[in-house]
Amino acid sequence: MDANMAYEPNIIAFCCMHCAYAAADLAGSSRISYPASLKIVSLPCTGRTDMGHILKTFEDGADGVLVAGCLEGRCHFQTGNLYARQRVEHVAELLEQIGLDNERVRMVNVSAGQGARFAELANEFAETIKTLGPTGLKKKVGACELPMPTGDKASQMENKDDSC
Ligand code: FES
Repeated sequence: MDANMAYEPNIIAFCCMHCAYAAADLAGSSRISYPASLKIVSLPCTGRTDMGHILKTFEDGADGVLVAGCLEGRCHFQTGNLYARQRVEHVAELLEQIGLDNERVRMVNVSAGQGARFAELANEFAETIKTLGPTGLKKKVGACELPMPTGDKASQMENKDDSC
């Protein structure tokens, strides 16, 4: 049996609640399927994503990250989706620099009424990630995880772990 057949990629989709989240909901209620392994995180606007969020999502075990926003020119905050696209492109460059395929992160745009289109884009992305396979990143990061900053410098020093 091909090992890839059993592999279900772990995909996180950051979806704007005004469009892509509603489109995903419409796909579900219209019984148009998209991969169950795609987990949706609803945001007030894709402009709310930043490069740190996306990179941390990979660190935490995602094999692919989809950012789905309103159609260009239709963002409720005017330029949020344009900034999101720039950030996604920067993350794609960073992934390439650390030896991961830049196809692991993608920005798409859909309207709330495009349930079928959302499902199509989600299925295409899942197929791409399935072909690429797991990143293996979580294991590497987990072996040497740094403590999270907890506020002031003193507490950060207390939490410093020299084992890494
Ligand atoms: Fe939807 Fe900005 S409000 S991407």
